[in-house]
Amino acid sequence: MAFDLDAAIRKIPDFPKPGILFYDITSILANPEAFSYCINSMVETYKDTDINAIAAIESRGFIFAAPLAERLSLPLILVRKKGKLPGETLSKTFDLEYGQDTIEIHKADVGPGQTFLIVDDLVATGGTLRAAIDLLTEAGASVKEIFAPIGLPFLNYSEKLGDVPVRTLIEYD
Ligand code: PRP
Ligand code: MG
Repeated sequence: MAFDLDAAIRKIPDFPKPGILFYDITSILANPEAFSYCINSMVETYKDTDINAIAAIESRGFIFAAPLAERLSLPLILVRKKGKLPGETLSKTFDLEYGQDTIEIHKADVGPGQTFLIVDDLVATGGTLRAAIDLLTEAGASVKEIFAPIGLPFLNYSEKLGDVPVRTLIEYD
């Protein structure tokens, strides 16, 4: 029988505000069997693809991307929030529900010839991933796939990410 990932995901009603049901990955991390299931599923999915680099979205995406990059022996590129990377950066500002956010990559680490898998923990509106795709593409790389253990398709992320396949382990409506 397949692993019951749903049972390993803590659901918190009314967080961060009333009416929102929060899908919490800390309960996956606290459960070695659940975390292994996620990483092993990713390794199985991507071990024979032609991606040659992994981009990880700060901060929860780092946790899933790092073990995958190590297992597949692929370069790991961190997509960080503004002001965290010490070298020369490329940046992208994008709209949130309220206000804006900016993400950055190290310019020296991204360029033509790279075919990326972007990893995050959860896809909601797809706004963060859209900005990451645009940033990596503007740097000359190509984004082939997106992976996150959890997807919330009712937030219509496919409208923003229609040009890049999104793979998840579990989806909630
Ligand atoms: C959350 C989540 C995804 C993103 C999804 O991160 O981890 O990265 O939001 O939302 P979107 O699809 O609407 O862009 P958050 O910005 O809360 O930060 P964190 O990962 O550092 O906790
Ligand atoms: Mg995040």
